[in-house]
Amino acid sequence: MGLNASKCSIILEIENGNKVRMRNKYRKPTTSHCNAGNRWSILVWSFVGFIVMLQLYTLTSNSDAHKGPLQMHRQVSHYQHFRELEAVEEEDIQMPPPRRRSPRAAKRKPKRPPTMIDEFLDDSSQIRHMFFPNMNTAVDPRTDAVNQSFYYYPGKIWLDTEGNPIQAHGGGILYDQKSQNYFWYGEYKDGPTYHAHRRGAARVDVIGVGCYSSKDLWTWKNEGIVLAADEINETHDLHKSKVLERPKVLYNDETGKYVMWMHIDDVNYTKASVGVAVSDHPTGPFSYLYSIRPHGFDSRDMTIFKDDDGVAYLIYSSDDNSELHVGPLNKEYLDVTPVMRRILVGQHREAPALFKHDGTYYMITSGCTGWAPNEALVHASESIMGPWETMGNPCLGGNKIFRLTTFFAQSTFVLPLPEFPRSFIFMADRWNPADLRDSRYVWLPLTVGGAADRPLDYNFGFPLWSRVSIFWHKRWRLPSALRGA
Ligand SMILES: *[C@@H]1O[C@H](CO)[C@@H](O)[C@H](O)[C@H]1NC(C)=O
Ligand SMILES: *[C@@H]1O[C@H](CO)[C@@H](O)[C@H](O)[C@H]1NC(C)=O
Ligand SMILES: *[C@@H]1O[C@H](CO)[C@@H](O)[C@H](O)[C@H]1NC(C)=O
Repeated sequence: MGLNASKCSIILEIENGNKVRMRNKYRKPTTSHCNAGNRWSILVWSFVGFIVMLQLYTLTSNSDAHKGPLQMHRQVSHYQHFRELEAVEEEDIQMPPPRRRSPRAAKRKPKRPPTMIDEFLDDSSQIRHMFFPNMNTAVDPRTDAVNQSFYYYPGKIWLDTEGNPIQAHGGGILYDQKSQNYFWYGEYKDGPTYHAHRRGAARVDVIGVGCYSSKDLWTWKNEGIVLAADEINETHDLHKSKVLERPKVLYNDETGKYVMWMHIDDVNYTKASVGVAVSDHPTGPFSYLYSIRPHGFDSRDMTIFKDDDGVAYLIYSSDDNSELHVGPLNKEYLDVTPVMRRILVGQHREAPALFKHDGTYYMITSGCTGWAPNEALVHASESIMGPWETMGNPCLGGNKIFRLTTFFAQSTFVLPLPEFPRSFIFMADRWNPADLRDSRYVWLPLTVGGAADRPLDYNFGFPLWSRVSIFWHKRWRLPSALRGA
């Protein structure tokens, strides 16, 4: 299944080879008038050629000198470092031996053998520590920074600068030009998990939206709850008995405001709306404006995306999660406009995370299986309004069950790394439905490049788009210049 690193580089080389051959094949013949000329003209042309070469040589050596050897070296090592992150890392995770059951229980119900997903969801599983390593292994920037660690450990507890587990689930990251800080917003879920009624999903009362700031994407300072739940007013959208999920923040260049969009729902997920809040500062407090049903439709999992031209879009699961809708926001980012397109119709996708590379839009989504993990898919389009085409599962490494469960996690955001154009951080949530506040973060390197895995529907079998790959690593870190080190 998995594409390994050497195959990757072979493909790249093959591609380059093709390009070179193509160029030679289609180059106009330039030798014909040489035949017509005499020896003199050959001599003159050789001399001209020599001068041109000399000019070119001095030009290129100048531009190299301009860059400086350090910078050149840095670019090379960035590249090498990301190539290392593209190595495929296997993971050996074994089912525990079957538990002994009393002979009577064994007679009563011949059950299907448990799967790895059953083990994942079973909070008394013998291999629980594989999915939810305990506090002793927590990533702690206060002590690890002495070792200049900067390592991400997907699935381990991740502490903030005060030593508390980061509470920013279903989140997203905004890079703020003004303060040159990253801000991570997400659901603050540090409360008890319970079921509102017998058939209700596991939930935590709404506390609010947490915000953390960082310069290096690893050391996160708690900036507090920037949009808080309402404790008293039971009819308010933000009353603690309601649902607030997947908050995302964009900066509006025209109004100078920070605008937050989020999924607002009631305990039974029948309100299915989006909420909007606004602030003058990235660290809030955000004022809650209202909730709407965008374009008159139900809206559950959602995200927002700001394009290069400053136009922002809302993307949401709709029609009972059977399809996604996409449409531009108004200039202030405070409402949708009447323009909307249905995309991925009938595909039942949620947890959308959008990004753009080289003029193409990409989106990662999950299936709809509640808190249980499932297979991610990547979709691509030349226009954000579609048509979007499904390319396949982007996950590489781990093992088969890792790849079929998005590494036991669900997409929430894809963060571009502007210094390294085809590289991104894939952000996902490893939900813990037995104790939602203890849900973990799975951050992994995502790259765009190489040929697609399987032929696509609409283009006669030729892959139109590059492959999107998310590489499993037990432990990894960004190239040093990207860490701000
Ligand atoms: C630095 O790393 C070593 C080895 O991983 C570890 O034993 C040590 O405790 C770390 N130092 C600090 C201050 O955390
Ligand atoms: C409670 O919330 C509703 C809906 O937002 C609002 O109309 C009402 O004025 C609020 N009541 C109080 C007492 O604040
Ligand atoms: C949610 O559903 C349960 C069970 O159907 C019902 O008892 C409860 O009243 C509903 N709550 C709301 C707020 O709709």
